[in-house]
Amino acid sequence: MSGIKIEEVVSTTKRERVAAHSHVKGLGLESDGRAKDNSSGFVGQKSAREAAGIVVELIRTKKMAGRALLFAGPPGTGKTALALGIAKELGPKVPFCPMVGSEVFSAEVKKTEVLMENFRRAIGLRIKENKEVYEGEVTELRAEETDNPLGGYGKSISHVVITLKSVKGSKQLKLDAAIYDSLEKEKVSVGDVIYIEASSGAVKRVGRSDAFVGDHDLEADEYVPLPKGDVHKKKEIVQDVTLHDLDIANAKPQQGQDAMSLVNSLMKQKKTEITEKLRQEINKVVNKYIDQGVAELVPGVLFIDEVHMLDIECFTFLNKALESTLAPVVIFATNRGTCRIRGTDIRAPHGVPTDLLDRLLIVRTSPYSTDDIMRIVDIRAQVEGVQIEDNALGLLGEIGGRTSLRYVAQLLSPSLIIAQTQGGRESIQRSDVEAVDNLFKDAKASAQILHAKADEFIYQ
Ligand SMILES: Nc1ncnc2c1ncn2[C@@H]1O[C@H](COP(=O)(O)OP(=O)(O)OP(=O)(O)O)[C@@H](O)[C@H]1O
Ligand SMILES: [Mg+2]
Repeated sequence: MSGIKIEEVVSTTKRERVAAHSHVKGLGLESDGRAKDNSSGFVGQKSAREAAGIVVELIRTKKMAGRALLFAGPPGTGKTALALGIAKELGPKVPFCPMVGSEVFSAEVKKTEVLMENFRRAIGLRIKENKEVYEGEVTELRAEETDNPLGGYGKSISHVVITLKSVKGSKQLKLDAAIYDSLEKEKVSVGDVIYIEASSGAVKRVGRSDAFVGDHDLEADEYVPLPKGDVHKKKEIVQDVTLHDLDIANAKPQQGQDAMSLVNSLMKQKKTEITEKLRQEINKVVNKYIDQGVAELVPGVLFIDEVHMLDIECFTFLNKALESTLAPVVIFATNRGTCRIRGTDIRAPHGVPTDLLDRLLIVRTSPYSTDDIMRIVDIRAQVEGVQIEDNALGLLGEIGGRTSLRYVAQLLSPSLIIAQTQGGRESIQRSDVEAVDNLFKDAKASAQILHAKADEFIYQ
């Protein structure tokens, strides 16, 4: 393989809607690394947040590759939230791949294959290329239509006329109709600054020209100055991809133009196999790019939640994978104490083999005070758009003290329903919370009932 395809790489970043953590915007630290009381959606759990902050710094300065971190603590103490806080602090340019331990158990794919794929999703590559482009502010955008060659009433686009303006001058381009889709996809309109790659015709919208500042302040558009130099020029283009993006792009069969090959590629997409050989080839090319200075490695984060769900086979794989030169930072989380390592009869702390434990930095999270719980529930109420009265919040804090944070956070929505249906109110009162707490049971209460009424249930 002489070169790897970069142009057609589509990002395969997992997009997850982690609604329960939507209030977490970062770690909420001071510039000296100390945790603020209540910031970026985070309350309390200070030492764990400060430790996470140091890890962010290590990742940023690339001193942490191949190392691993473990968040250990009781349920609902913010372990998952901390990991997502780390992701937010690192920003969108550093890959962050979240997964749950149990994801490795699939009937179709080998466990280590799932891990390998996620490892490669967590390793980024920043590729810098000098490309020939047309760049400028769009001053004219017009699609020329002709009658549909196949007959009928419809019109089809024959070509697109676009005029781009830069500081040095402007240029009118007559482009192939195929580019119209890219322009639509990037939502390009007159007044935007864009560039078009000469070789591939790919269109990228850079932002809105700053001549239009204040024209319509509807959304947070990014305003950019008029590009310098000529419209037609060489430009350094930076592209962020992950190793997995490259694997996928190179494993797919070449896509042709005709309808049949399109259908084929749609059907094949799921079944494409990324072989070990292909990965090695890609690693080789990637290493060459890095040596030549064309690309830079951006080790990201692989987050494995509920790590006690992994079995001994996975742990063996992890031990080895962490040693490789292309390794991301791995963050584990677990709420287990000493338990059996899956696939063995050996008991170990957190269900993790001691040889792996030995190489981890461990961060503990501890249960919250009633006060912290009240403040966190208050944040959640704001995010969910729920109004809640102070005495109701106080009661939730109390309940949270004897149950868990997760349990009381989940009481918010049902309480609102009771407030609306039984009280005709939009804000939650203490009585609504009492009513809901009577209707539902937390895990501990449920376990007590099971214990007390054991003979009423079926056991196998
Ligand atoms: N310090 C905190 N500040 C603000 N919100 C928090 C804090 N800690 C936890 N939360 C929120 O409380 C809820 C429960 O926390 P989280 O899911 O992170 O717990 P966990 O430790 O991962 O629990 P488990 O062991 O059950 O997975 C989430 O909605 C989380 O965003
Ligand atoms: Mg969790």
